[in-house]
Amino acid sequence: MSLACNRKPPPPVDPPSARGSEATVSSEVGRDDCGRNQRSEFPSNCARRCLWPGRRRTGPVPADGASRTLSAPAPGTATALLLIYTASGPPRHRRAPRHRQEEPQVRMAGGLVAVLLGALAVSVGVQGLENGLARTPPMGWLAWERFRCNTDCENDPHNCISEQLFMTMADLLVSRGYSSLGYNVVSLDDCWPEHERDEQGRLQADSKRFPSGIPALADYMHQKGLKFGIYEDYGNYTCGGYPGILGHLKTDADTFAEWGVDYVKLDGCYADPKDMDEGYPEFGHLLNVTGRPMVYSCSWPDYQLASGMTPNWTSIIATCNLWRNFDDIQDSWASVASIINYYGDNQDDIAVNAGPGHWNDPDMLIIGNYGLSYEQSKAQMAMWAIFAAPLIMSNDLRSIDAKYEAILQNEDVIAVNQDPLGIQGRRISKANGIEMWTRPISPSRGDEHSYAVAVLSQRTDGTPAAVTLTLKSLGLTSADGYHVTDLFDNYNLGVVRPDDELKLHVTPRASCS
Ligand code: GLA
Repeated sequence: MSLACNRKPPPPVDPPSARGSEATVSSEVGRDDCGRNQRSEFPSNCARRCLWPGRRRTGPVPADGASRTLSAPAPGTATALLLIYTASGPPRHRRAPRHRQEEPQVRMAGGLVAVLLGALAVSVGVQGLENGLARTPPMGWLAWERFRCNTDCENDPHNCISEQLFMTMADLLVSRGYSSLGYNVVSLDDCWPEHERDEQGRLQADSKRFPSGIPALADYMHQKGLKFGIYEDYGNYTCGGYPGILGHLKTDADTFAEWGVDYVKLDGCYADPKDMDEGYPEFGHLLNVTGRPMVYSCSWPDYQLASGMTPNWTSIIATCNLWRNFDDIQDSWASVASIINYYGDNQDDIAVNAGPGHWNDPDMLIIGNYGLSYEQSKAQMAMWAIFAAPLIMSNDLRSIDAKYEAILQNEDVIAVNQDPLGIQGRRISKANGIEMWTRPISPSRGDEHSYAVAVLSQRTDGTPAAVTLTLKSLGLTSADGYHVTDLFDNYNLGVVRPDDELKLHVTPRASCS
């Protein structure tokens, strides 16, 4: 069975994958065999898989914080991820680095550059949905980007959307150690139900592909200590042409609660975006009154922005635990970069909306798939940490290469992502293809924070760039200085004062070394 092309649902709204990014992403838009707009695949920047560097460098550990020039090691380091802690000491909630010492230290690695330190006054100031859920960004696994609407279990039993696929991914989340790091939601996306509701108007799973039924699948997850997520659409049809929620809001909320669902993604195809200001809160209320805690993932602002509306952020924050606001991610650096650019270009409107219980969702992590090089994979992981983004992987955990698994399982980067302050990072500067991003994180001291800092290269000139910066230029002004650590390569820079010069070598984004 394949996508329900013959159903021809009314198409008042194009799916997000078809919309909006032409201005920022170079791509072609065609139509698939269902007549839906579909972006053509972006070219991969790196055709081959990259070598795991496997090297760990430790730089000089300065005895004190005297002003000086610090050089990053590692010629050929692409982009680097640094963490700078306040000089008062390393964060207590964070895993101690494998060779943490008493003295200030720094770690460095290839990837992207992120630094953590403290001092910018950033206020969140927005109250969110108080269902008590998603106090830190949700983490887990979702089928869509990697497995799409493959319903052909006859010819492709290994990869089709079926209970077996989700059970296998759940097994791997546990056995490969992902769940113990926080990746604990396994979620269906489109194409799981039958095309018709049952006689009582309830959704029913495709009986051939989910023969045990959804409650059994939810139980399977729960027995493994995982959460179970489901997908529906605030419209007449899902984007793939399956039954939408309109006319069945209460039935579906009650059904999800009865089935043991923990997380609901509500898409917005085949709906009028103007109805969403009422409809999404109504369904959120119906979820809440079931009494079962369910994380509520909304596509509401994405569809409204795409249709030229200004979203009611106050209502969205009060209703949803997370929300999409931009195009679907595709398996390429061009797609990841378009999302990063969107988050930077629109940060004044969107960053302030994030906080414990309510998060901007830049879409799935695609690390371990076909489209990103090793360096680009580190860049996605680091930027999603800066964004305080949900870490929802869409990849094939059966075959993921160890070096990509290591990126996804980097405990220090995950700790940045999950920082309890929940403040979304911002782009501080962008010049000559090099961007500086900072995110305030804990521990704080008075009104000073620690920070995560990312130095991201979007250059394509093919030669490593030398980047010199001071922490002061990023707004990090604590007179005591900051403990600086690179989170991908365990390289220690020690205590860095605001005026100290940091010299970094940033390799081109498409580098595979
Ligand atoms: C939309 C969503 C995607 C995915 C597909 C499924 O495009 O944005 O994340 O759920 O629908 O059809």
